[in-house]
Amino acid sequence: MTSYKDLGLVNSKEIFAKAVDGKYAVPAYNFNNMEQLQAILQACVETKSPVILQVSSGARKYANATLLRNMAKGATEYVKELGYEIPVVLHLDHGDTFELCKDCIDNGFSSVMIDGSHHSYDENVALTKKVCDYAHAHGVTVEGELGVLAGVEDDVVAEKSTYTRPEEVEDFVKKTGVDSLAISIGTSHGANKFTPAQCTRNADGVLIPPPLRFDILEEIEKRIPGFPIVLHGSSSVPQEHVDMINKFGGALKDSVGIPEEQLRKAAQSAVCKINIDSDGRLAMTASIRKTFAENPGEFDPRKYLGPARDVLKALYMEKNKNVLGSAGKA
Ligand code: G3H
Ligand code: 13P
Ligand code: ZN
Repeated sequence: MTSYKDLGLVNSKEIFAKAVDGKYAVPAYNFNNMEQLQAILQACVETKSPVILQVSSGARKYANATLLRNMAKGATEYVKELGYEIPVVLHLDHGDTFELCKDCIDNGFSSVMIDGSHHSYDENVALTKKVCDYAHAHGVTVEGELGVLAGVEDDVVAEKSTYTRPEEVEDFVKKTGVDSLAISIGTSHGANKFTPAQCTRNADGVLIPPPLRFDILEEIEKRIPGFPIVLHGSSSVPQEHVDMINKFGGALKDSVGIPEEQLRKAAQSAVCKINIDSDGRLAMTASIRKTFAENPGEFDPRKYLGPARDVLKALYMEKNKNVLGSAGKA
């Protein structure tokens, strides 16, 4: 058993309370490897932002649980070395079973998500409560989810019925004891968040997605005032990186994300955690493709992962400063 406290991590309680009061959102950046972790930490220390290091179950398998735990320990020591101590949370993204959440809690995670959103309401309540009971006994915070994020394959009826139902949130929070709640108001995972048919096109032919359902968010805030809300699927899918990937041999089509101004607006509400994974993947891939195309003889991984890390760091700094508003809040 390793407590997150032994790794120098914090849970999300205090940073969320500050984010709700201060009207900004804490970044939750996914990582699988050292270069991503370095970019996240450097960007967040330089912008003096609190940070959530987010690990999916797939990422945990990829990196190895023991290595990850020690990377988290290294992360908090590295932050001190960088000269400005920011709060660092290690969070399980989309935990789907009690056993996985427990294993993460027992191995140094300071926060877990139990995503019971694909179960019936009652099953979601029971599973989330079970995780909360175990997590809270260990000082770990828990994120639950109500409503299912739309996938681009879903038909229109399914999409509509999976927005979070505001009438359920109060009961869910009360029955489960959850510390934060992920909601579905029109974001979705990946780099193709909407079909072209769901979008309009601007004069340059760029796809413009439908706006987020701020009316649902407002209704939720009315029912659980000041309660920490989480937005998944919040990559903006910058055209610049999509274009660079395609210019250097990639084949991304109809990629579309959440416009930054909508995320800025959400960050000023009770939304206090914004999840971003795909934008990091795009930035790294764009940079690596460019390096390979321009330097076909290069085979030292540091020569293509190093520049990719710099691009990633710049992306995160920009988000902290200009989208989430978390810069200067640590
Ligand atoms: O929401 C999912 C995250 O982007 C993690 O994705 O399961 O491919 O690691 P992954
Ligand atoms: P994106 O795919 O939009 O980056 O969302 C990531 C996410 O929600 C991780 O849980
Ligand atoms: Zn997610």
